[in-house]
Amino acid sequence: MKPTLAPFPATRLRRTRRTPGLRDLVRETTLTPGDFIWPVFVRDGEGIEEPVASMPGVMRRSVDKVVEAAVEAHALGIPAICLFPYTDPSKRTEDCAEAWNPNNLSNTATRAIKAAVPDIAVMTDVALDPYSDTGHDGFIENGEIVNDRTVEALVKQAMSQAEAGADIIGPSDMMDGRIGAMRTALEQGGFRNVLLLSYAAKYASAFYGPFRDAVGASGALKGDKKTYQMDPANSDEAMRLIERDLSEGADMIMVKPGMPYLDICRRAKDMFGAPTFAYQVSGEYAMLAGAAQNGWIDGDRSMLESLMAFKRAGCDGVLTYFAPAAAKLLNG
Ligand code: PBG
Repeated sequence: MKPTLAPFPATRLRRTRRTPGLRDLVRETTLTPGDFIWPVFVRDGEGIEEPVASMPGVMRRSVDKVVEAAVEAHALGIPAICLFPYTDPSKRTEDCAEAWNPNNLSNTATRAIKAAVPDIAVMTDVALDPYSDTGHDGFIENGEIVNDRTVEALVKQAMSQAEAGADIIGPSDMMDGRIGAMRTALEQGGFRNVLLLSYAAKYASAFYGPFRDAVGASGALKGDKKTYQMDPANSDEAMRLIERDLSEGADMIMVKPGMPYLDICRRAKDMFGAPTFAYQVSGEYAMLAGAAQNGWIDGDRSMLESLMAFKRAGCDGVLTYFAPAAAKLLNG
């Protein structure tokens, strides 16, 4: 049978795209500086901003410079800053004791930020890799990353961060049972308002390479993290992890990496409706910033497009090294 063609298209979807005003009117998703958490690398010393070679535009900052960054972030409307310490190799030990030292870099920076800019939320990372001599997120016994002994240490680390004034604690270690253990310890310790943003769906990804350089963990890391971080092939398992972590007391959940895992973000948001974040990780940043630096893509546009995509995929916010640059553009 021969189809009869109407003399005009039944729907002209181009009508709503014709002018900037009409495009504004029908836009389904918005991106604002309020959507960002800015990850910053902390090092020792004073007055230091040291570039990270594989992440053009990203610095390792001494605590005083981290405070300046927090002041800038707050002025730009960025609600949260996330701290990642570069720990001196002499402080990386088998027992990882530096992780719960009240005066370690992360805790020192937390106190300094909260004193200078109390209104910005400080997020901290819970995992042993910046403090272990193996580069792994947990203790190793007989070649195995052991779970329960690691969780005990992670709880000590989380408590030291809460005592330093962290608003949001982000366990990125992928051990089983750590959310419940931290929530119990926080409640018992009088920290009932501290948020847990669980890196519930964290994949064993090749996109973390530049981060491991930035925190000095790549040289140390023996083997890979596949016995605790997820297989990139799995999606159902991510839903089980998220459900588990929410039931143990997580307030918010994270999918990591970001751009290659937008399907996981969407599925998680649809299934649980919980505050959902994605981490646009160091390798994603390096791809975009590196290509932009070479003039191969438009840096500003590709940055904003990549960030908008997280919102469209159902995320409430994004951890991104682009946070200050994107906020500046969005603020006009
Ligand atoms: C480790 C941790 C990693 C990142 C954040 N926390 C690396 C890893 O799992 O080896 C990566 C972040 C990034 O690549 O930007 N606990």
